[in-house]
Amino acid sequence: MSASAQIGVTGLAVMGRNLARNFARNGYTVAVHNRTAAKARALVDEFGQEGEFVLAETAEDFVAALERPRRLVVMVKAGEPTDAVIQEFAPLLEPGDMIVDGGNAHFADTRRRERELREQGIHFVGTGVSGGEEGALNGPSIMPGGSKESYDALGPMLEKISAKAADGSPCTAHIGPDGAGHFVKMVHNGIEYADMQLIAEAYQLLREVAGYSPAEIADIFRTWNTGRLDSYLIEITAEVLAHVDAATGEPFVDVVQDQAEQKGTGRWTVQIALDLGVPVSGIAEAVFARSVSGHKDLRDASRGLAGPKAEPLAKNEAAAFADQVEQALYASKIVSYTQGFHEIAAGSEEYGWGIDLGAVSAIWRGGCIIRAAFLDRIRAAYDARADLPSLLADEGFAREIGEAQDDWRAVLVAATRQGVPAPGFAAALAYYDALRADRLPAALTQGQRDYFGAHTYRRTDREGSFHTLWGGDRSEVSA
Ligand code: 6PG
Repeated sequence: MSASAQIGVTGLAVMGRNLARNFARNGYTVAVHNRTAAKARALVDEFGQEGEFVLAETAEDFVAALERPRRLVVMVKAGEPTDAVIQEFAPLLEPGDMIVDGGNAHFADTRRRERELREQGIHFVGTGVSGGEEGALNGPSIMPGGSKESYDALGPMLEKISAKAADGSPCTAHIGPDGAGHFVKMVHNGIEYADMQLIAEAYQLLREVAGYSPAEIADIFRTWNTGRLDSYLIEITAEVLAHVDAATGEPFVDVVQDQAEQKGTGRWTVQIALDLGVPVSGIAEAVFARSVSGHKDLRDASRGLAGPKAEPLAKNEAAAFADQVEQALYASKIVSYTQGFHEIAAGSEEYGWGIDLGAVSAIWRGGCIIRAAFLDRIRAAYDARADLPSLLADEGFAREIGEAQDDWRAVLVAATRQGVPAPGFAAALAYYDALRADRLPAALTQGQRDYFGAHTYRRTDREGSFHTLWGGDRSEVSA
């Protein structure tokens, strides 16, 4: 087999297949390989006319089909399947070759794999790919980690197949070394969970407090999608809410079981945030909300618990309430992005990745699940000040959230009064209020810790650590 392919894709489930087609449609010769060769054959049979494919039936053929340095894209399940594929191919590769993992891998696995393969002179490029099946085919947002050298060889191809933002720039950039790309993809997914949860809460409030039907809420979302909330997730939410189940004639959303599943990237975002000491409370509530929804037995056992006796809003109050919900949603969204970007900054600091937060927001403007007009604003905020300590420190976001706060609070009052859970909105507001507070009750927490465990505290008026002799005369000693 002659080495004619510029890139190869192994693992031809829907994402791998669509990514291979995307490369081919962009003029690259693509070697395709799958553990069961029939899948590779089927791809070439079905889509062979879209571009140049080289069918590789064996691992050896696949490697032999690739130009050097080889670029080998792995699109298999995260975890053991990825390690198995690496073990299969690494012995066949040579120094300078690249293995690109486009799955949703845990960044710690990526760091390990990168280290191990580096010893062999192979570049391991952990790459976040977002946009689902459609994005993989027509242009995803791509978040490659790995060495700078590997980006020099791969970047132009990724830039070609990636989505393009409204200003025409490609939605990919070198994120940083080793696990940086997968870390950023993980946080992308955490933000995705938060966005989805906030939208779901807005829906529930519009339905249960304001009394709108799913079809009416779809229209409200369509309107919101023409404003500052303009985003892919708002757009598809309107589609889902407007959909009517063919079998029953009921709104689709009413015939779907209300138990949300997850593959785990949102959970990782929260786990890692806990390790890094970054408060991502909005993202955490989104993960927990899915978890609560999935506890069917617990919910069944609790359904009879007492709730409030509040009336829904009168018809003429509904439209004003919908405007307030838009404010609450927008303000809470600012908070979840603030928290997500904080986590990226903290990860970058911890692992020495040097991630450019402005570049991350720029490549999320197109192709990915959280793509939104809003990301242009975030990019502008980081462009204006690369060391922005928090998105809330940006003048524009601070002003907007300040303007939204009265409505945000009113929505939470209504939610509480009606007994409608809005954990995402509430966590976001609590974060905002905590950050802007002059004093937090953490001082009391410190006092308690010192009382029962002599854990010491610092004073506001002088340097040093102190302990009060709680069991004795309550005098203070330097610790
Ligand atoms: C994307 C998505 C993608 C996947 C999620 C789904 O960016 O294209 O995030 O990676 O659809 O992982 O996650 P859950 O199954 O955990 O909701």
